[in-house]
Amino acid sequence: MTHKPIIKFENVSKSFDDNGELILKDINFELESGKFYTLLGASGSGKSTILNIIAGLTDATSGDIYLDGERINDVPINKRDVHTVFQNYALLPHKNVFDNIAFPLKIRKIDKHEIEKRVMEALKLVRLTGFEHRRIQKLSGGQKQRVAIARAIINQPKVILLDEPLSALDLKLRTEMQYELRALQQKLGITFIFVTHDQEESLAMSDWIFIINEGEIIQSGTPVDIYDEPINRFVATFIGESNIVKGIMLSDYLVEFNGKKFESVDGGMRQNEAVDVVIRPEDLRQTLPDEGKLLVRVKTQLFRGVHYEIIATDDLGQEWMIHSTRQAIVGEVIGLDFDPEDIHIMRLNETEEDFDARIEEYVEEETIEAGLINAIEEEMVVDGTKD
Ligand SMILES: Nc1ncnc2c1ncn2[C@@H]1O[C@H](COP(=O)(O)OP(=O)(O)OP(=O)(O)O)[C@@H](O)[C@H]1O
Ligand SMILES: [Mg+2]
Repeated sequence: MTHKPIIKFENVSKSFDDNGELILKDINFELESGKFYTLLGASGSGKSTILNIIAGLTDATSGDIYLDGERINDVPINKRDVHTVFQNYALLPHKNVFDNIAFPLKIRKIDKHEIEKRVMEALKLVRLTGFEHRRIQKLSGGQKQRVAIARAIINQPKVILLDEPLSALDLKLRTEMQYELRALQQKLGITFIFVTHDQEESLAMSDWIFIINEGEIIQSGTPVDIYDEPINRFVATFIGESNIVKGIMLSDYLVEFNGKKFESVDGGMRQNEAVDVVIRPEDLRQTLPDEGKLLVRVKTQLFRGVHYEIIATDDLGQEWMIHSTRQAIVGEVIGLDFDPEDIHIMRLNETEEDFDARIEEYVEEETIEAGLINAIEEEMVVDGTKD
């Protein structure tokens, strides 16, 4: 990273009692300023604990936490330039919208006119102009959430922590707020750290996702990276729907599963290594039985609005999920076709570090090889063996 990280965790662990289990296990990350980060994980995985350590609501048991280059382990809550938005909004119910948003500024004894100016600006940003005198109790869930966000941005903190802020909203409002939050973050350029257990939400909103499981970061990357290259079964099933079958990596770019050999784009593994093979439902195409790479029998079909969700079984009794805009007939045998790049290979028990090292190594080898081929081809052109 070229810039100084806005937040840095160095070997951070957490246990709530002295000899108890570790809730966070050696967490390390560096966050760049101005980005939208998401912590994604199941209930109890440690997401809120990470936010609370940044906010100062709880201490790390070991390790160091830095905010904008300064070690903040011992810095009190109110001296940390971060603001938390909670799921339950944490608004003052008997006060009006204006007073709730102005609250952090009043504590800091800011001049009255300045407060008014900034509250009005914040209200405009969250599209609540005209609501300043409304009581909190008389707002809808989405409006309350906007007030909480306005209160978070009013101090222009370096980092805003959002702990499942949208989970109390219905689906439509939630989607709307996802767009709004993302747009607001980009406009303000403040670093957001957003917690959710909703994988679709994390894919839609983030620049960068951390997948947390049992107090550890399992994988981190852009939404596209994580969706396209899940490092293990856990991530593949957690992010999106997946078909996962056992396979054997015969050599680089050649994998065997369902008793057949398939071309793949993965490599860097041992010969004949046992692997998990992932193919996403939307990457499987229905074909006539004799034109497919796999032969399956349709077991069930559900119409999901945009696509049909088809479950079909192969000869080995394995189930395949297919997302198709074309209807199938239950009981019928169909072929399934897919491309080499739609086959994602996962090593068993590979950590994120091993994964990165392997990708780097074989991509490098591939680049060198491609370079050699180019050089040979150029030479052939020069001496006329190829035109
Ligand atoms: N104050 C506490 N004392 C003891 N254990 C705690 C405390 N706070 C959290 N834990 C435990 O730490 C673990 C992680 O909790 P945390 O709240 O960080 O999870 P989470 O990922 O935010 O889950 P959720 O999605 O349900 O909010 C859980 O097993 C929880 O029971
Ligand atoms: Mg939580």
